[in-house]
Amino acid sequence: MSETPSKFSEDQIEAGRLLFARPFVFTKGCVRIADLPPSDRLEIAFAGRSNVGKSSLINALTGTTGLARTSNTPGRTQELNIFESQHADLRIVDMPGYGFAKAPEEKVKQWTKLIHQYLTGRPNLRRVYVLIDGRHGPNANDMSVMNELDKAAVSYQVVITKADKPNKAELDDAIKKTRDTIKKRPAAHPELILTSSETKFGMEQLRAEIRQLLEQ
Ligand code: GTP
Ligand code: MG
Repeated sequence: MSETPSKFSEDQIEAGRLLFARPFVFTKGCVRIADLPPSDRLEIAFAGRSNVGKSSLINALTGTTGLARTSNTPGRTQELNIFESQHADLRIVDMPGYGFAKAPEEKVKQWTKLIHQYLTGRPNLRRVYVLIDGRHGPNANDMSVMNELDKAAVSYQVVITKADKPNKAELDDAIKKTRDTIKKRPAAHPELILTSSETKFGMEQLRAEIRQLLEQ
């Protein structure tokens, strides 16, 4: 994993580090769109299948253990959880997972609707990070979310998670499948970011990538 070269300069990496050097705090959990704060600042959201590691990635990114609640059981995050910093014009949104979750069907339906409405109708949503498990690559649920984002012209970038878990052949295979999937997608960022919340691999790059969004 360590051979992945960073496309960022030292200054850009440092700017990314500084953005997350001061604390992000939990501001609220939203069960419906009407609960969301006003669209008054740039937002990024972390989306992906249940258990792919969205909440863990937010903790690793912000360097704050326990900021976003994580769990071994799919379906931990059940609301749009909002994180903000007093020192940055940036809002981070942790989303419920799509696909399988250990929850009643009715609830899963509600989340699915909430996810859809949020992803396709939020004016200040600058980029969605679509997380894909480094052991598996994309599945049908991932494809359908990417289809929606393409259709709504919402910019997104794939983040490979749990890169510490697969062996090299498995990881290479997941990366290849993911690359093939995003190749022709109009709203997809062409580059993947490889991460592990466990080892913190890829955090510098992800921070720099997010920092750049604030400049554009
Ligand atoms: P939902 O909220 O249920 O949709 O899940 P989530 O996508 O937020 O996943 P979460 O962060 O709760 O992580 C799920 C499980 O995967 C937890 O047991 C984490 O400890 C584990 N996990 C997350 N990221 C990594 C990683 O990079 N490496 C390893 N080895 N485990 C991870
Ligand atoms: Mg979660």
